[in-house]
Amino acid sequence: MSVRFAIEPLAKAHKRADFTCGNDRIDSYFRETVSQDVKRKYATCFVAREIATDRVAGFYTLSSSNVPLNEVPEPLAKKLPRYPTVPAVLIGWLGRHSDYAGHGLGETLLFDAIKTVATAPIGAHAIFADAINDGAAAFYMAFGFMPLVRRPRTLYLPVTTALSLVSP
Ligand SMILES: CC(C)(COP(=O)(O)OP(=O)(O)OC[C@H]1O[C@@H](n2cnc3c(N)ncnc32)[C@H](O)[C@@H]1OP(=O)(O)O)[C@@H](O)C(=O)NCCC(=O)NCCS
Repeated sequence: MSVRFAIEPLAKAHKRADFTCGNDRIDSYFRETVSQDVKRKYATCFVAREIATDRVAGFYTLSSSNVPLNEVPEPLAKKLPRYPTVPAVLIGWLGRHSDYAGHGLGETLLFDAIKTVATAPIGAHAIFADAINDGAAAFYMAFGFMPLVRRPRTLYLPVTTALSLVSP
């Protein structure tokens, strides 16, 4: 897996026009909008490129954000300082090209996102993601992400817990 794909920051050379992950909103975001968000520094975007063909096999975006403390699931909230919000990084979008199903690439992208957040020189207690549908929510929950209080499609995981997935 690690030698088949390179994960690297989005660049002009990445061909996005035919990206298809099975969700129209994610496809059109990646094809048409992501570069503007990157240019404005609303997000960073990382692309999985198939080394042999240079095709884009998947991508994810990260943005700084926060989560209201009263939406963090118990018992996680109990251990946190009483500040109104928890510093966190949002995985805004994540998709794997349908041609690359069955290679564990969704997991590879998620683990790369976790490592990127964990090694960034900016404090972030948690990673969270807005799942686009119930299937996407199930994907994140398979890795231990927990739904926020009153926001069942927003999934939350402390960075330290996430790191234990990546390096057990
Ligand atoms: C969600 C998505 C990224 C998963 O990618 P993938 O390459 O199929 O994922 P992997 O093969 O690496 O699967 C990793 C694990 O996640 C789980 N998983 C994947 N898709 C799942 C789903 N829809 N529901 C529940 N679990 C799921 C699998 O059980 C797998 O665990 P296993 O190895 O024990 O079987 C991909 O299906 C996709 O791009 N979907 C469309 C866009 C989308 O929903 N993005 C999510 C963010 S909004």
